[in-house]
Amino acid sequence: MENNKVQLAVIGVGAMGSQHAKDIQLLPDVNLAAVCDLIPERAEKYSNGSDCKQFTNYQKMINTVNLDGVIIATPHYDHTPIAIDCFQKGIHVLTEKPIAAHVCNAKKMITAYEKALETHPNLKFAIMFQQRTYGSWIMVKKMLDEGKLGKIVRATWIITNWFRTQRYYDHGDWRATWHGEGGGVLLNQCPHNLDLFQWFFGMPMKLTGFAQLGKYHSIEVEDEVTAYMEYENGMIGHFITSTAESPGTNRLEIIGEKGKLVVEDELLTFWENKKSMLDQIQTSPDPYKQVEFTKINVPYVHHGGPGHDIIIQNFVRSIQNGESLIVPGVDGVHQLQLGNAIMLSSFLDKPVNLPINEEMYKNILIDKIRNSKFQKIVNENEIFDISGSFGN
Ligand SMILES: NC(=O)c1ccc[n+]([C@@H]2O[C@H](COP(=O)([O-])OP(=O)(O)OC[C@H]3O[C@@H](n4cnc5c(N)ncnc54)[C@H](O)[C@@H]3O)[C@@H](O)[C@H]2O)c1
Repeated sequence: MENNKVQLAVIGVGAMGSQHAKDIQLLPDVNLAAVCDLIPERAEKYSNGSDCKQFTNYQKMINTVNLDGVIIATPHYDHTPIAIDCFQKGIHVLTEKPIAAHVCNAKKMITAYEKALETHPNLKFAIMFQQRTYGSWIMVKKMLDEGKLGKIVRATWIITNWFRTQRYYDHGDWRATWHGEGGGVLLNQCPHNLDLFQWFFGMPMKLTGFAQLGKYHSIEVEDEVTAYMEYENGMIGHFITSTAESPGTNRLEIIGEKGKLVVEDELLTFWENKKSMLDQIQTSPDPYKQVEFTKINVPYVHHGGPGHDIIIQNFVRSIQNGESLIVPGVDGVHQLQLGNAIMLSSFLDKPVNLPINEEMYKNILIDKIRNSKFQKIVNENEIFDISGSFGN
């Protein structure tokens, strides 16, 4: 830590990484010491009047600049080798979501991190799941943890407001291909929602997934998905997503014995039962009588921004003084397990038990890459303005 400032670098200064670089430059106790991008002009933008060094090769960067930490904002497959190389040098890592393209790679990262902890016990590994900073989701988690809904019987998330046009997919050579991205809506947009789903409800024991590949866009990966999940405690889950619905929906509906909680249009509504509906089912003398309830608009506080800066500041404070990470990097494997399981079930056309055979999934992905006949069209290579794309 030179001059008591945390020395950070951003690897991949495209649409997301350039935002992270801006956020870092606003922090008083942090120095953007270096950036790296395969496209030289993207890195060179940081030459103006700052001491930020520019690289096109991340290995050269981590071997020559005295860095405390990096933020990885490259396409998904590259998260794995970059994170592993950084861990081996004792450099803290905040990686963009998803942690990796498939669970085998995520596990390699976690193993490398755990090994590096033996020589660098304070090493940090974080992941950019900024939606975990949203007031609405923090309130849902709190209500579930406090048992306000009692036993959960069903959770249904319709998250179809990740609308994307063909122009989005034609941007950049990696997007929406098996070899460049490793998947579609489940791997790019939905990691946030799948992470929250597992944060709220844990992991299912079994699921059935239906993924439509390139149904509405000229892409080879999934743009419409439905999953049915079965939990050991009897809860059932539904996860429905698409990048082809406008207007889309973002509605999470949770049914517990003590009430129903719905998050939609940034409102949290709780129908609080006066008694357990499960008891009512068993004990009511009336064949139809529903449980009485009170309808409550649950207040919560939201910071109003996309939240990336909060995750970055938390990462920095964790390096400086050991603050707990909002989302530890190793947590990133769970949403990937869910996403990979949904795709595996769809490919196999049958339900799958969790944890899935991750080698089998990786091999299917390798086959998809090997047998791909998809001709990727790249219409432009300018950096996107992605400020409207973070979801709610
Ligand atoms: N958290 C969020 O809200 C959010 C939003 C958008 C994207 N993302 C994530 O950010 C990552 C990047 O997405 P994007 O939309 O910015 O893509 P992008 O294509 O705009 O940018 C990626 C950049 O990485 C560079 N790059 C590729 N391989 C590299 C390597 N090995 N070394 C250095 N640079 C390399 C590319 O040249 C490009 O400039 C992905 O993981 C994506 O899922 C997160």
